[in-house]
Amino acid sequence: MSLVPEDPNRVLLFDTTLRDGEQSPGISLNAAEKLEIAQQLARLGVDIIEAGFPIASPGDFEAVRTIAREVQGPVICALARANAADIDRAWEAIQDAERPRIHTFLSTSDIHIQHQLQSTREDVKGLARASVAQAKALCEDVEFSPMDATRSEPAFTAEVLRIALEEGATTINIPDTVGYATPDEYAEFLTELYELVPGLRDVVVSTHCHDDLGLAVANSLAGVRAGARQIECAVNGIGERAGNASLEELIMLLHTRRDRLGYTTGAVTTEIARTSRLVSRLTGYSVQPNKAIVGKNAFAHESGIHQDGVLKARETYEIMDARSVGLDANSIVLGKHSGRAALRQALEDLGYKIDGSQLKLAFERFKEIADRKKQVTAMDLEALVTDELRADESQAGYALEWFEVEASNQRPPFAKVAVRTPDDSVVEGTFNGDGPVDAIFRAINSATKIDARLREFRVDAVTGGQDALGEVSVVVELGSPEDAVKHDTPGVLSGKRVTGAAQAVAPDIIHAAAIAYVRALGNAVGKAQAAATDAELAQTP
Ligand code: KIV
Ligand code: ZN
Repeated sequence: MSLVPEDPNRVLLFDTTLRDGEQSPGISLNAAEKLEIAQQLARLGVDIIEAGFPIASPGDFEAVRTIAREVQGPVICALARANAADIDRAWEAIQDAERPRIHTFLSTSDIHIQHQLQSTREDVKGLARASVAQAKALCEDVEFSPMDATRSEPAFTAEVLRIALEEGATTINIPDTVGYATPDEYAEFLTELYELVPGLRDVVVSTHCHDDLGLAVANSLAGVRAGARQIECAVNGIGERAGNASLEELIMLLHTRRDRLGYTTGAVTTEIARTSRLVSRLTGYSVQPNKAIVGKNAFAHESGIHQDGVLKARETYEIMDARSVGLDANSIVLGKHSGRAALRQALEDLGYKIDGSQLKLAFERFKEIADRKKQVTAMDLEALVTDELRADESQAGYALEWFEVEASNQRPPFAKVAVRTPDDSVVEGTFNGDGPVDAIFRAINSATKIDARLREFRVDAVTGGQDALGEVSVVVELGSPEDAVKHDTPGVLSGKRVTGAAQAVAPDIIHAAAIAYVRALGNAVGKAQAAATDAELAQTP
């Protein structure tokens, strides 16, 4: 079975938000959040979803397996290093997918072979053969990546690729792992590989470019022009270090400049904005205002001359229509007197189907917001629904019950909080902090007896205006060496650092901060407990 598209100009979109993207510092998505993103990626029309790295932890495994079982349409891919245990685990996770793919990788650069693998070129060739053969015996669709390809010797990379093709690899991905290549160099490298390995013409060649020098999108395009027909990329460009090539930029580049480039994708461009917002919200990684395609200023005109021009004819200063990326959702607004049916309809227009108790809760939240804001926009609605869905998740059983805070510039702010704990009791704590938010966070630590440390704190307005909803993102860390001695929280005794990230939305930012902190703390405790269980399982004979 050939996986090469019939249309020679069709470029496959391989989304790695849930794998490479999830490797960004501070991001820790739970299985439900990963599934939500995967379902949205399917709506966006990506061809392949790299759902995760199943061997990394039981949590990663479960998330990949759930996505494989529940998401229809795209190929569901799992990553595996070039060894038997990784490949078996990857297959176990994706075998129920409609269209499963195993992606195995192995470094080919001498820097990696000597220092990271502490191995030899001969061993690398042997491992490449064995791992692709093993993957192929399990799964028809196998992708192979020579990691750090762009810093590898072309002749050696070609030798390894020949082996991968002999063993049945159907996609060959050429990673610019450290984001070092320039577009002309990347294209030349691919051209040389095509010359050295003619068999590459019979499979899909893929790009995987990191953005360390800000060239990921340019390099991916150069790769496509050199013959690649799959692009690996991530929503909002998230990923290791400076990130991956940005999915939305590549889609709109190929779409908007089809006149010159001639390539097509299967993307439903109107789903772009929503996908970007969802990923931003769930990862806690905000999108810079001037980010191409999805930044809040990407379609805004500040100068009078530009505004005037656009009013006369949009094309004077706009090369894309905001509606083509789904940014017109803001025309959906509800007023104070809107009822439950109108709310349900507006949510459906945004792509959220909720009913029963979820709709009841969403309606209660909507009324709270509508009491304070004249108009509730699509962004507000989306923020409150995603917040409601987050509240449904366990956060290891911790939830904010209430808080009080007294703040003035005359004396240290004082906070009192009550938190519901996993055993369903309500514990209280107090603290005098440096500021009201600090006082609340420390009061939460005191109530739960968990000495979480704040690593990141960000406040964003969901929409503009004085009455905007506040969205707070928090990252906490548990398990510094000192904590290991102090803690009696199960799983936190290991001394291993774990982070927990969470967001919350509320009309009042101090309230949102308190909810987000308890959620982040609960997520971190959940991760620490999972790590402790994994460690115990690893010791079980
Ligand atoms: O950057 C990289 O080389 C990777 C591989 C696993 C494809 O992410
Ligand atoms: Zn990568």
